[in-house]
Amino acid sequence: MFPPQLAHFFVDWLTLPGDAVYDPFSGRGTAPLEAVLLGRQGYGSDANPLAVVLSQAKTRIPSKRTLLRRLAEVEAGYASDKVSVSDEPENISMLYSESTLRQLVWLRDQLDRKKDTDCFWIATILGMLHAGHNKSGEPRGFSISMPNTFAMSPRYVANYIKEHGLKRPEVDVFAMLRRRLDRLDLPEAKRQGGRTWTHDATAAPPAWLVKRRPKLIFTSPPYLQVIKYGKYNWVRLWFLGETATEVDKRLMASGSLPRYLTFMRSVSERLQQVVADDGYVCFVIGDVRRGEEDLNLAQAVWDEVLKDQGWHLHGIIPDEIPQQHKVSRIWKNNSGKATKVDRLLLMSPSPSSLPAVTSKTWSHSLSFASPET
Ligand SMILES: C[S@@+](CC[C@H](N)C(=O)[O-])C[C@H]1O[C@@H](n2cnc3c(N)ncnc32)[C@H](O)[C@@H]1O
Repeated sequence: MFPPQLAHFFVDWLTLPGDAVYDPFSGRGTAPLEAVLLGRQGYGSDANPLAVVLSQAKTRIPSKRTLLRRLAEVEAGYASDKVSVSDEPENISMLYSESTLRQLVWLRDQLDRKKDTDCFWIATILGMLHAGHNKSGEPRGFSISMPNTFAMSPRYVANYIKEHGLKRPEVDVFAMLRRRLDRLDLPEAKRQGGRTWTHDATAAPPAWLVKRRPKLIFTSPPYLQVIKYGKYNWVRLWFLGETATEVDKRLMASGSLPRYLTFMRSVSERLQQVVADDGYVCFVIGDVRRGEEDLNLAQAVWDEVLKDQGWHLHGIIPDEIPQQHKVSRIWKNNSGKATKVDRLLLMSPSPSSLPAVTSKTWSHSLSFASPET
Protein backbone atom coordinates (compact mmCIF):
# COMPACT_ATOMS: atom_id res chain seq x y z
CA MET A 1 0.00 0.00 0.00
CA PHE A 2 1.10 3.57 -0.42
CA PRO A 3 1.30 5.75 2.69
CA PRO A 4 -1.95 7.60 3.51
CA GLN A 5 -0.02 10.90 3.62
CA LEU A 6 0.80 10.54 -0.06
CA ALA A 7 -2.83 10.20 -1.12
CA HIS A 8 -3.80 12.90 1.37
CA PHE A 9 -1.34 15.37 -0.11
CA PHE A 10 -2.46 14.86 -3.72
CA VAL A 11 -6.18 14.94 -2.88
CA ASP A 12 -5.70 18.14 -0.90
CA TRP A 13 -3.55 19.72 -3.61
CA LEU A 14 -5.40 18.79 -6.78
CA THR A 15 -9.07 18.65 -5.79
CA LEU A 16 -11.69 20.70 -3.98
CA PRO A 17 -14.29 19.56 -1.45
CA GLY A 18 -17.11 17.80 -3.29
CA ASP A 19 -14.87 16.68 -6.19
CA ALA A 20 -14.66 12.98 -7.02
CA VAL A 21 -11.45 11.01 -6.49
CA TYR A 22 -11.14 7.53 -7.99
CA ASP A 23 -8.73 4.62 -7.47
CA PRO A 24 -9.23 1.76 -9.99
CA PHE A 25 -6.78 -0.49 -8.02
CA SER A 26 -8.07 0.47 -4.61
CA GLY A 27 -6.43 -2.32 -2.53
CA ARG A 28 -6.97 -1.48 1.13
CA GLY A 29 -8.83 1.68 0.16
CA THR A 30 -6.16 4.18 1.19
CA ALA A 31 -6.91 6.78 -1.52
CA PRO A 32 -10.73 6.66 -1.26
CA LEU A 33 -10.47 6.97 2.54
CA GLU A 34 -8.26 10.05 2.36
CA ALA A 35 -10.72 11.52 -0.15
CA VAL A 36 -13.66 10.89 2.18
CA LEU A 37 -11.77 12.36 5.16
CA LEU A 38 -11.10 15.51 3.13
CA GLY A 39 -14.77 15.93 2.18
CA ARG A 40 -14.41 14.60 -1.38
CA GLN A 41 -16.31 11.68 -2.90
CA GLY A 42 -14.01 8.66 -2.64
CA TYR A 43 -14.52 6.00 -5.30
CA GLY A 44 -12.62 2.75 -5.51
CA SER A 45 -12.73 -0.41 -7.55
CA ASP A 46 -10.61 -3.54 -7.64
CA ALA A 47 -10.84 -6.98 -9.23
CA ASN A 48 -10.07 -8.62 -5.88
CA PRO A 49 -13.13 -9.15 -3.65
CA LEU A 50 -10.97 -8.74 -0.54
CA ALA A 51 -9.85 -5.28 -1.68
CA VAL A 52 -13.45 -4.35 -2.45
CA VAL A 53 -14.57 -5.18 1.10
CA LEU A 54 -11.68 -3.23 2.68
CA SER A 55 -12.26 -0.21 0.45
CA GLN A 56 -16.03 -0.26 0.83
CA ALA A 57 -15.64 -0.16 4.62
CA LYS A 58 -13.56 3.00 4.22
CA THR A 59 -15.88 4.82 1.85
CA ARG A 60 -19.09 4.04 3.74
CA ILE A 61 -18.29 4.31 7.43
CA PRO A 62 -21.20 3.48 9.76
CA SER A 63 -21.65 5.20 13.12
CA LYS A 64 -20.24 3.50 16.20
CA ARG A 65 -23.74 3.11 17.65
CA THR A 66 -25.04 1.27 14.59
CA LEU A 67 -21.99 -0.98 14.57
CA LEU A 68 -22.39 -1.92 18.23
CA ARG A 69 -26.09 -2.57 17.79
CA ARG A 70 -25.46 -4.89 14.87
CA LEU A 71 -22.71 -6.79 16.68
CA ALA A 72 -24.98 -7.27 19.70
CA GLU A 73 -27.69 -8.62 17.41
CA VAL A 74 -25.35 -11.16 15.81
CA GLU A 75 -23.96 -12.15 19.21
CA ALA A 76 -27.44 -12.59 20.69
CA GLY A 77 -28.25 -15.15 18.00
CA TYR A 78 -25.07 -17.11 18.64
CA ALA A 79 -24.99 -20.41 20.46
CA SER A 80 -21.91 -22.57 20.13
CA ASP A 81 -23.96 -25.76 19.64
CA LYS A 82 -25.74 -24.17 16.66
CA VAL A 83 -22.52 -23.93 14.64
CA SER A 84 -20.67 -26.83 13.10
CA VAL A 85 -17.02 -26.45 12.23
CA SER A 86 -16.43 -30.00 11.08
CA ASP A 87 -16.48 -28.97 7.41
CA GLU A 88 -13.93 -26.22 7.79
CA PRO A 89 -10.56 -26.97 6.15
CA GLU A 90 -7.72 -28.20 8.34
CA ASN A 91 -5.59 -25.28 7.19
CA ILE A 92 -8.04 -23.04 8.95
CA SER A 93 -8.74 -25.09 12.07
CA MET A 94 -4.99 -25.25 12.77
CA LEU A 95 -5.06 -21.47 13.34
CA TYR A 96 -7.97 -21.06 15.77
CA SER A 97 -9.23 -22.72 18.92
CA GLU A 98 -12.50 -24.54 18.37
CA SER A 99 -14.60 -21.97 20.26
CA THR A 100 -13.01 -19.09 18.35
CA LEU A 101 -13.59 -20.86 15.05
CA ARG A 102 -17.26 -21.41 15.90
CA GLN A 103 -17.69 -17.69 16.52
CA LEU A 104 -15.88 -16.83 13.31
CA VAL A 105 -17.99 -19.22 11.27
CA TRP A 106 -21.15 -17.77 12.82
CA LEU A 107 -20.06 -14.22 11.98
CA ARG A 108 -19.06 -15.29 8.47
CA ASP A 109 -22.49 -16.81 7.88
CA GLN A 110 -24.49 -13.93 9.42
CA LEU A 111 -22.72 -10.90 7.98
CA ASP A 112 -23.64 -9.72 4.50
CA ARG A 113 -20.92 -7.73 2.77
CA LYS A 114 -23.46 -5.87 0.63
CA LYS A 115 -24.69 -4.02 3.74
CA ASP A 116 -22.52 -1.13 4.95
CA THR A 117 -22.57 -2.01 8.65
CA ASP A 118 -21.85 -5.68 8.05
CA CYS A 119 -19.16 -4.82 5.53
CA PHE A 120 -17.40 -2.67 8.12
CA TRP A 121 -17.43 -5.54 10.61
CA ILE A 122 -16.18 -7.98 7.97
CA ALA A 123 -13.29 -5.63 7.14
CA THR A 124 -12.46 -5.32 10.85
CA ILE A 125 -12.49 -9.11 11.27
CA LEU A 126 -10.28 -9.53 8.19
CA GLY A 127 -7.72 -7.26 9.82
CA MET A 128 -7.64 -9.47 12.94
CA LEU A 129 -7.90 -12.94 11.35
CA HIS A 130 -4.18 -13.42 11.71
CA ALA A 131 -1.88 -11.32 13.84
CA GLY A 132 1.08 -11.51 16.18
CA HIS A 133 1.01 -11.75 19.95
CA ASN A 134 2.32 -8.97 22.17
CA LYS A 135 5.29 -9.25 24.50
CA SER A 136 3.23 -10.73 27.31
CA GLY A 137 1.93 -13.34 24.89
CA GLU A 138 -1.55 -11.86 24.44
CA PRO A 139 -2.91 -12.30 20.94
CA ARG A 140 -3.56 -9.14 18.91
CA GLY A 141 -5.89 -11.11 16.67
CA PHE A 142 -7.77 -14.41 16.75
CA SER A 143 -5.07 -16.81 15.51
CA ILE A 144 -1.86 -18.46 16.58
CA SER A 145 0.91 -15.89 16.29
CA MET A 146 1.28 -14.93 12.61
CA PRO A 147 2.22 -11.77 10.75
CA ASN A 148 -0.87 -9.68 10.00
CA THR A 149 0.28 -8.50 6.58
CA PHE A 150 0.27 -11.56 4.34
CA ALA A 151 -0.14 -15.22 5.25
CA MET A 152 2.67 -17.62 4.37
CA SER A 153 1.69 -20.84 2.58
CA PRO A 154 -0.50 -23.29 4.55
CA ARG A 155 2.28 -25.88 4.54
CA TYR A 156 4.81 -23.39 5.89
CA VAL A 157 2.41 -22.33 8.64
CA ALA A 158 1.63 -25.97 9.56
CA ASN A 159 5.35 -26.78 9.90
CA TYR A 160 5.95 -23.62 11.90
CA ILE A 161 3.18 -24.51 14.34
CA LYS A 162 4.66 -27.99 14.80
CA GLU A 163 8.26 -26.86 15.16
CA HIS A 164 7.45 -24.14 17.68
CA GLY A 165 4.67 -26.01 19.49
CA LEU A 166 2.24 -23.10 19.01
CA LYS A 167 -1.06 -23.27 20.89
CA ARG A 168 -4.24 -21.87 19.39
CA PRO A 169 -5.41 -19.03 21.65
CA GLU A 170 -8.81 -19.10 23.36
CA VAL A 171 -10.19 -15.70 22.47
CA ASP A 172 -13.68 -14.27 22.47
CA VAL A 173 -14.14 -12.78 19.00
CA PHE A 174 -17.12 -10.59 19.97
CA ALA A 175 -15.29 -9.05 22.95
CA MET A 176 -12.15 -8.42 20.88
CA LEU A 177 -14.18 -6.75 18.15
CA ARG A 178 -15.76 -4.40 20.69
CA ARG A 179 -12.34 -3.51 22.09
CA ARG A 180 -11.06 -2.90 18.57
CA LEU A 181 -13.96 -0.59 17.81
CA ASP A 182 -13.23 1.36 20.99
CA ARG A 183 -9.74 2.07 19.75
CA LEU A 184 -10.92 3.25 16.31
CA ASP A 185 -11.50 6.95 16.16
CA LEU A 186 -14.81 6.71 14.34
CA PRO A 187 -16.99 9.71 13.54
CA GLU A 188 -20.16 10.07 15.65
CA ALA A 189 -22.37 10.12 12.58
CA LYS A 190 -22.09 7.76 9.63
CA ARG A 191 -19.80 8.98 6.86
CA GLN A 192 -20.85 7.83 3.42
CA GLY A 193 -18.67 9.76 1.06
CA GLY A 194 -18.34 7.37 -1.83
CA ARG A 195 -18.48 3.77 -2.88
CA THR A 196 -16.49 0.79 -4.09
CA TRP A 197 -17.31 -1.91 -6.62
CA THR A 198 -15.75 -5.03 -8.12
CA HIS A 199 -14.21 -4.17 -11.44
CA ASP A 200 -11.40 -5.18 -13.77
CA ALA A 201 -9.52 -1.99 -14.58
CA THR A 202 -9.26 -2.97 -18.26
CA ALA A 203 -13.06 -3.28 -18.61
CA ALA A 204 -15.49 -0.51 -19.58
CA PRO A 205 -16.16 1.85 -16.66
CA PRO A 206 -19.70 2.15 -15.29
CA ALA A 207 -21.78 4.80 -17.09
CA TRP A 208 -22.40 6.78 -13.88
CA LEU A 209 -18.65 7.18 -13.32
CA VAL A 210 -18.14 8.42 -16.88
CA LYS A 211 -20.80 11.03 -16.12
CA ARG A 212 -19.32 11.88 -12.71
CA ARG A 213 -15.87 12.66 -14.18
CA PRO A 214 -13.44 12.29 -11.24
CA LYS A 215 -11.10 15.24 -10.89
CA LEU A 216 -8.27 13.04 -9.64
CA ILE A 217 -7.39 9.43 -10.28
CA PHE A 218 -4.80 8.41 -7.73
CA THR A 219 -3.72 4.81 -7.97
CA SER A 220 -1.03 2.21 -7.67
CA PRO A 221 -1.43 -0.46 -10.37
CA PRO A 222 -0.13 -3.97 -9.70
CA TYR A 223 3.61 -4.08 -10.24
CA LEU A 224 5.31 -6.38 -12.65
CA GLN A 225 4.60 -9.74 -10.97
CA VAL A 226 5.61 -8.84 -7.45
CA ILE A 227 2.73 -10.01 -5.32
CA LYS A 228 0.11 -12.72 -5.70
CA TYR A 229 -2.66 -10.99 -3.80
CA GLY A 230 -4.90 -14.06 -3.64
CA LYS A 231 -2.25 -16.59 -2.67
CA TYR A 232 -0.96 -14.56 0.27
CA ASN A 233 -4.46 -13.79 1.50
CA TRP A 234 -5.77 -17.34 1.67
CA VAL A 235 -6.96 -16.99 5.27
CA ARG A 236 -8.90 -13.79 4.62
CA LEU A 237 -10.36 -15.23 1.41
CA TRP A 238 -11.58 -18.26 3.38
CA PHE A 239 -13.61 -15.88 5.55
CA LEU A 240 -15.07 -14.28 2.42
CA GLY A 241 -15.95 -17.68 0.96
CA GLU A 242 -13.55 -17.15 -1.97
CA THR A 243 -10.62 -19.23 -3.16
CA ALA A 244 -7.15 -17.83 -3.69
CA THR A 245 -6.59 -19.47 -7.08
CA GLU A 246 -9.86 -18.11 -8.46
CA VAL A 247 -9.03 -14.63 -7.23
CA ASP A 248 -5.52 -14.69 -8.66
CA LYS A 249 -6.88 -15.71 -12.06
CA ARG A 250 -8.81 -12.43 -12.18
CA LEU A 251 -5.80 -10.26 -11.30
CA MET A 252 -2.99 -8.92 -13.43
CA ALA A 253 0.18 -10.80 -12.54
CA SER A 254 2.69 -11.15 -15.30
CA GLY A 255 6.46 -11.11 -15.33
CA SER A 256 6.43 -10.14 -19.00
CA LEU A 257 7.10 -6.46 -19.63
CA PRO A 258 5.29 -6.42 -23.02
CA ARG A 259 2.19 -7.94 -21.41
CA TYR A 260 2.37 -5.48 -18.57
CA LEU A 261 2.60 -2.58 -21.00
CA THR A 262 -0.39 -3.90 -22.97
CA PHE A 263 -2.30 -4.09 -19.69
CA MET A 264 -1.36 -0.51 -18.80
CA ARG A 265 -2.40 0.61 -22.30
CA SER A 266 -5.94 -0.60 -21.82
CA VAL A 267 -6.10 0.69 -18.22
CA SER A 268 -5.07 4.13 -19.41
CA GLU A 269 -7.57 4.10 -22.30
CA ARG A 270 -10.28 3.42 -19.73
CA LEU A 271 -9.08 6.26 -17.55
CA GLN A 272 -9.23 8.63 -20.51
CA GLN A 273 -12.94 7.85 -20.63
CA VAL A 274 -13.55 8.88 -17.02
CA VAL A 275 -11.12 11.58 -15.87
CA ALA A 276 -12.36 15.19 -15.91
CA ASP A 277 -11.05 17.31 -18.82
CA ASP A 278 -9.28 19.55 -16.29
CA GLY A 279 -8.34 16.62 -14.07
CA TYR A 280 -5.24 14.62 -13.13
CA VAL A 281 -4.07 11.03 -13.09
CA CYS A 282 -1.32 9.98 -10.71
CA PHE A 283 0.18 6.48 -10.97
CA VAL A 284 2.38 5.23 -8.16
CA ILE A 285 4.67 2.67 -9.77
CA GLY A 286 7.66 1.01 -8.12
CA ASP A 287 10.95 0.19 -9.82
CA VAL A 288 11.34 -3.53 -10.46
CA ARG A 289 14.44 -5.66 -10.29
CA ARG A 290 15.18 -7.36 -13.64
CA GLY A 291 18.21 -9.61 -13.25
CA GLU A 292 21.00 -7.39 -11.96
CA GLU A 293 19.31 -4.13 -12.90
CA ASP A 294 16.47 -2.03 -11.55
CA LEU A 295 13.90 -1.16 -14.19
CA ASN A 296 12.30 2.28 -13.94
CA LEU A 297 8.85 0.92 -14.74
CA ALA A 298 7.08 4.29 -14.49
CA GLN A 299 9.37 5.71 -17.18
CA ALA A 300 8.84 2.63 -19.36
CA VAL A 301 5.07 2.99 -19.01
CA TRP A 302 5.32 6.65 -20.04
CA ASP A 303 7.71 6.04 -22.96
CA GLU A 304 6.03 2.95 -24.36
CA VAL A 305 2.37 3.57 -23.61
CA LEU A 306 1.15 6.89 -22.28
CA LYS A 307 3.18 9.29 -24.40
CA ASP A 308 1.47 8.18 -27.61
CA GLN A 309 -1.99 8.30 -26.10
CA GLY A 310 -1.97 12.10 -25.92
CA TRP A 311 -1.52 12.54 -22.17
CA HIS A 312 0.25 15.64 -20.89
CA LEU A 313 3.05 14.71 -18.46
CA HIS A 314 3.63 16.95 -15.45
CA GLY A 315 6.49 14.87 -14.14
CA ILE A 316 7.78 11.60 -12.78
CA ILE A 317 8.76 12.03 -9.15
CA PRO A 318 10.93 9.48 -7.34
CA ASP A 319 9.78 8.63 -3.83
CA GLU A 320 12.34 6.77 -1.79
CA ILE A 321 10.52 4.67 0.76
CA PRO A 322 12.67 3.22 3.54
CA GLN A 323 12.74 -0.55 3.09
CA GLN A 324 11.51 -1.16 6.65
CA HIS A 325 8.21 0.52 5.74
CA LYS A 326 7.54 -1.69 2.75
CA VAL A 327 5.36 -4.76 2.91
CA SER A 328 7.84 -6.71 0.77
CA ARG A 329 10.27 -6.62 3.72
CA ILE A 330 8.56 -9.73 5.11
CA TRP A 331 10.19 -11.77 2.35
CA LYS A 332 13.55 -10.27 3.33
CA ASN A 333 14.04 -9.52 -0.36
CA ASN A 334 14.25 -13.21 -1.25
CA SER A 335 11.25 -13.60 -3.45
CA GLY A 336 9.79 -10.10 -3.75
CA LYS A 337 11.10 -8.24 -6.74
CA ALA A 338 10.01 -4.79 -5.55
CA THR A 339 12.92 -2.44 -5.03
CA LYS A 340 12.82 0.55 -2.79
CA VAL A 341 12.05 3.35 -5.24
CA ASP A 342 8.44 4.18 -5.98
CA ARG A 343 7.71 6.79 -8.64
CA LEU A 344 4.76 9.09 -8.97
CA LEU A 345 3.79 9.67 -12.57
CA LEU A 346 1.52 12.71 -12.75
CA MET A 347 -0.32 13.61 -15.94
CA SER A 348 -3.45 15.32 -17.32
CA PRO A 349 -5.67 14.54 -20.30
CA SER A 350 -4.60 17.81 -21.99
CA PRO A 351 -1.88 20.43 -21.48
CA SER A 352 -2.41 22.27 -18.20
CA SER A 353 -0.42 23.74 -15.37
CA LEU A 354 -0.42 22.58 -11.79
CA PRO A 355 -2.01 24.60 -8.99
CA ALA A 356 0.34 26.14 -6.45
CA VAL A 357 1.22 23.92 -3.52
CA THR A 358 -0.30 25.51 -0.45
CA SER A 359 0.20 22.75 2.10
CA LYS A 360 2.91 23.74 4.57
CA THR A 361 3.85 20.22 5.57
CA TRP A 362 4.98 18.52 2.40
CA SER A 363 5.86 21.31 0.00
CA HIS A 364 9.60 21.00 0.55
CA SER A 365 9.61 17.40 -0.68
CA LEU A 366 8.09 18.24 -4.07
CA SER A 367 10.43 18.79 -6.94
CA PHE A 368 9.17 17.88 -10.37
CA ALA A 369 11.60 16.67 -12.95
CA SER A 370 10.70 18.23 -16.27
CA PRO A 371 9.13 15.70 -18.69
CA GLU A 372 12.29 15.65 -20.83
CA THR A 373 14.63 14.55 -18.06
C1 LIG B 1 -0.43 -2.16 -5.56
S1 LIG B 1 -2.03 -2.74 -5.10
C2 LIG B 1 -2.88 -1.28 -4.66
C3 LIG B 1 -2.64 -0.93 -3.23
C4 LIG B 1 -3.43 0.28 -2.73
N1 LIG B 1 -2.91 1.49 -3.33
C5 LIG B 1 -3.39 0.38 -1.21
O1 LIG B 1 -2.94 1.41 -0.68
O2 LIG B 1 -3.79 -0.58 -0.54
C6 LIG B 1 -2.70 -3.22 -6.63
C7 LIG B 1 -4.15 -3.69 -6.60
O3 LIG B 1 -4.53 -4.02 -7.94
C8 LIG B 1 -5.50 -5.05 -7.90
N2 LIG B 1 -5.60 -5.63 -9.25
C9 LIG B 1 -4.77 -6.50 -9.88
N3 LIG B 1 -5.17 -6.73 -11.13
C10 LIG B 1 -6.29 -5.98 -11.34
C11 LIG B 1 -7.16 -5.76 -12.44
N4 LIG B 1 -6.97 -6.37 -13.62
N5 LIG B 1 -8.20 -4.90 -12.30
C12 LIG B 1 -8.42 -4.28 -11.10
N6 LIG B 1 -7.64 -4.46 -10.01
C13 LIG B 1 -6.58 -5.29 -10.12
C14 LIG B 1 -5.01 -5.96 -6.80
O4 LIG B 1 -6.07 -6.71 -6.25
C15 LIG B 1 -4.44 -4.94 -5.79
O5 LIG B 1 -5.41 -4.62 -4.80
